[in-house]
Amino acid sequence: MVKAVVLGAAGGIGQPLSLLLKANPAIDELGLYDIVNTPGVAIDLSHIATPAVVTGFLPPNDGLKHTLTGADVVVIPAGVPRKPGMTRDDLFKINAGIVKDLATGIATYAPKAFVLVISNPVNSTVPIVAEVFKKHNVYDPKRIFGVTTLDVVRASTFVAELIGKPGSAPDVVVPVIGGHSGVTIVPLLSQSSHPLPSDISADAFAALVKRIQFGGDEVVKAKDGAGSATLSMAYAGAEFAGKILRALKGEKGIVVPSFVPLAADPAGAAALTKELGAELEFFSSNVELGAEGVVKIHPLGRLTEGEAALVKAAVPELTTNIKTGTTYVLEKY
Ligand code: NAD
Ligand code: LMR
Repeated sequence: MVKAVVLGAAGGIGQPLSLLLKANPAIDELGLYDIVNTPGVAIDLSHIATPAVVTGFLPPNDGLKHTLTGADVVVIPAGVPRKPGMTRDDLFKINAGIVKDLATGIATYAPKAFVLVISNPVNSTVPIVAEVFKKHNVYDPKRIFGVTTLDVVRASTFVAELIGKPGSAPDVVVPVIGGHSGVTIVPLLSQSSHPLPSDISADAFAALVKRIQFGGDEVVKAKDGAGSATLSMAYAGAEFAGKILRALKGEKGIVVPSFVPLAADPAGAAALTKELGAELEFFSSNVELGAEGVVKIHPLGRLTEGEAALVKAAVPELTTNIKTGTTYVLEKY
């Protein structure tokens, strides 16, 4: 029996994500939690004829406890989204507290669950979850994942468009490494399953990299004050959760980028640290998943000069973002 939980289930991401998870036959029980509207979302989804039994809770009467008890996988899209003119870091003030409280709930009621963090800024909220788990003596670095799948999905889509084969998007695989914000998002286009045209201009190449790094801004701008990516994020979140569930059920060899604690694989971390020329506690590289979580963190592999420069530019910002998250828990709680 597999129980998946969505915290923030009534939100812009939470609702379509919960719908996609309800449609996943690998899930037997789907627990939904939000500070508003969860009962309605849960009843609505419960009429869909798929195996998952749906429950929905609000905070009163131990709602978080009831939602989390027995959870194998917990996905967190709770928190405020960006408006035009804001960076993801601007969300930290509000979202840090939300993620810290929810992580405390998970540490208390579902300490063995795989935790998939969507709430921004991911580069800082994942370290918050890790520190809260450490404080509760339940830290297992193999089970905490920052969801960077939307960057991977965007890279597939944009590369497929650029090579003039939009229909091939589902087959295009581009490792996107680093973190999840601006310059920390590093697409390794030289490792794309579908090579770019050899005569691509420097400007077109730079524009592609920029579009992958700042795809979130494109959506925020188009939504014009009504929030950030929700539907594409729900798709990406369900994709990643689906892979986690397959690994949990024993499938081997699933490899995807995710922003994870490097302590999950000390040998992989050592190799990665050498490549990065810097010691980071968290990084998104290709990660092999298994029934116990992270099995192996893969090295970056051969980089072009341009990619090496992007990685170099990402490291200082990642270092600051990670410290912001870690310090928040260490100093305040
Ligand atoms: P939203 O405002 O539509 O939904 C957020 C939901 O969280 C709301 O329903 C709200 O009630 C709920 N919530 C707030 N505090 C809560 C708490 N303490 N416990 C439970 N639920 C709580 O926002 P959204 O568009 O769904 O975005 C959610 C978050 O996801 C934002 O931080 C956004 O930046 C982030 N995001 C991340 C990615 C990514 O790639 N990782 C992509 C898109 C959005
Ligand atoms: C995204 O990449 O779309 C999300 O991180 C939301 C945002 O703020 O851009």
